[in-house]
Amino acid sequence: MTGELFSEERSAEVVAGSFAGTPDPRLRQVMTSLVRHLHDFVKDVELTEEEWGAAIDFLTRTGQTCTPVRQEFILLSDVLGVSMLVETINHRTGGTATESTVLGPFHMVASPPRELGDDIALDGKGTPCLVSGQVTGQDGEPLAGATVDVWQTNEDGFYDVQQPDVQPPGNLRGIFTTDDDGRFWFRSVVPRFYPIPDDGPVGRLLAATGRHPNRPAHLHFIAEAAGHRPVTTHVFVADSPYLDSDAVFGVKDSLVRDTPEVDDPERARELGLPNPFRTLTFDLSLLRA
Ligand SMILES: [Fe+2]
Repeated sequence: MTGELFSEERSAEVVAGSFAGTPDPRLRQVMTSLVRHLHDFVKDVELTEEEWGAAIDFLTRTGQTCTPVRQEFILLSDVLGVSMLVETINHRTGGTATESTVLGPFHMVASPPRELGDDIALDGKGTPCLVSGQVTGQDGEPLAGATVDVWQTNEDGFYDVQQPDVQPPGNLRGIFTTDDDGRFWFRSVVPRFYPIPDDGPVGRLLAATGRHPNRPAHLHFIAEAAGHRPVTTHVFVADSPYLDSDAVFGVKDSLVRDTPEVDDPERARELGLPNPFRTLTFDLSLLRA
């Protein structure tokens, strides 16, 4: 006998030790830490055999719920706050650039290229809104030719890809290119809050723990410019419900904006919007690569 035998007291050390010969040092570090924390958790709650079986069944059903257009494991990561934590650790900005948040599962199709001023609300439903902003570098210099990829839900709280028989393809999506002053603007509607898909194992977990599945109203952004680090983020609507209880923990204070109403028939006519209309202004600042 060379190795130490398994015991309740020394279980983590024994199992972690089995990974000591892992050639890749990062894999060794991750597996060692994972084993330590898993064993700590099992000991902390004194997991019963029935609970262990339920956990295996839950994870099995989570995998079986995944399809080419549905990712239940990402949803599980999201509602446990792991997606947001990984995102936050990997995109620390120190307050010098626009904060990032989760990509989410609905960027599944390429957004269509659009011209500044275009209307992305192809179904014409919802409260008209002018969305505008400026993309700048970290010293405030305007970034001309930056791309701004946006996507949002319709008035009923669904993305186009969730309702292929109801919404026109590309509804409420677009890629815009900033002008010489780094500015972008387009017509849309005020986004609405929506529930994450809650008819699978993750939804049942939320129900069993008394949590709601909703996300506050938001508009997704990916801004990219040559020589700069891209940012994946959202802007949240300030008067939306669930801002303080986002099911996936995506809200950051710096990303919340008001959507004031403008009552100006001439301006509305210029923009091609009905009067009155709402406005949402969101400037994005990118760090140098
Ligand atoms: Fe979303």
